Amino acid sequence: MDKILEVQEAALEAIKQATDLESLNQIRIQYLGKKGSIQALMNEMKELPKEEKPIFGSKVNVCKQEVTSALEKRQEELEVSALSENLIKDKIDITLRESNLRLGTTHPLMMIQKEIEDLFIGMGYTIAEGPEVEEDYYNFELANIPKDHPARDMQDTFYIDPNTLLRTHTTAMQMRELEKAKGTTPIKLICPGKVYRRDDDDATHSHQFMQCEGLVVGENITLADLKGTLEHMANAMFGEGRTIRFRPSYFPFTEPSVEVDVSCPFCNGKGCSVCKGSGWIEILGAGMVHPHVLEMNGFDAEKCSGFAFGVGLERVAMLKYGIDDIRNFYINDQRFLKNFDRYD
Ligand code: DAH
Repeated sequence: MDKILEVQEAALEAIKQATDLESLNQIRIQYLGKKGSIQALMNEMKELPKEEKPIFGSKVNVCKQEVTSALEKRQEELEVSALSENLIKDKIDITLRESNLRLGTTHPLMMIQKEIEDLFIGMGYTIAEGPEVEEDYYNFELANIPKDHPARDMQDTFYIDPNTLLRTHTTAMQMRELEKAKGTTPIKLICPGKVYRRDDDDATHSHQFMQCEGLVVGENITLADLKGTLEHMANAMFGEGRTIRFRPSYFPFTEPSVEVDVSCPFCNGKGCSVCKGSGWIEILGAGMVHPHVLEMNGFDAEKCSGFAFGVGLERVAMLKYGIDDIRNFYINDQRFLKNFDRYD
């Protein structure tokens, strides 16, 4: 009987001393487990004379209940204190000084994209979006560049399989939109987005860059409409007083095709190091949508016509913000990016 009391007192003392749930569990095993002290007492009962067994048994049971309820009580206490300890540990220090926080800024390319979007939305254009992983069909075939066409060399391409590629120009989206319209006009949209070419990166080339395509199709759309639109854009992007000029060029999807120059915003056309003394800076390619492209997409080229253009956003940003290396846009150097908070 003394032994029972001894075990009980030792257990209750150990439970009182336990400082965490893990050691409490060890105590539970030590006293209440299959090989624990209380079970050992039970086993001893077999050796006792018959008449002592019931008293001994009931004492052991009392001991077991005492220990069990003390364990439960202590467990609850420890759980509560573990919780409040965690709450203290996880507390968020809201006293951090505000001036230590560095906020991100809008990426310069996104600024240019938004500026162009706002400008064209103001002129009644809609904005189209499309896949960067594109079918050869939209990127080349529908743009009047069949498989063996030498113009494919103009755009070194990342192919995924013979029919799938990373789009080399947003002109792919022009084709998707033309096809989607099923010969109905008017169409008036721009499509900004990322494009990819197998170029070696240097100060003026990047294997990933951004373009914005423009497309207008309707009745009596002329080269003069294209010129007026692009002149408006040049003035909005590079400041009032810009003029533009067209130089004949070649793109398979336009006829005629032009290269568009803007009068140099740095010297006002007088000639400087940026425009290499010419007074003009090339900014984009454009033209009248090729009648064959219209026909391939289900339009009657006798009844409607259209203009299109494709402008490189890095080029615009570089001119506008005086950036001399295209790689700056893609290396996420905070010293470069944080310069643009003043435009945000
Ligand atoms: N897709 C051409 C390029 O990436 C740019 C371009 C030129 C787009 C003329 C046009 C266009 O829509 O009419 O070099």
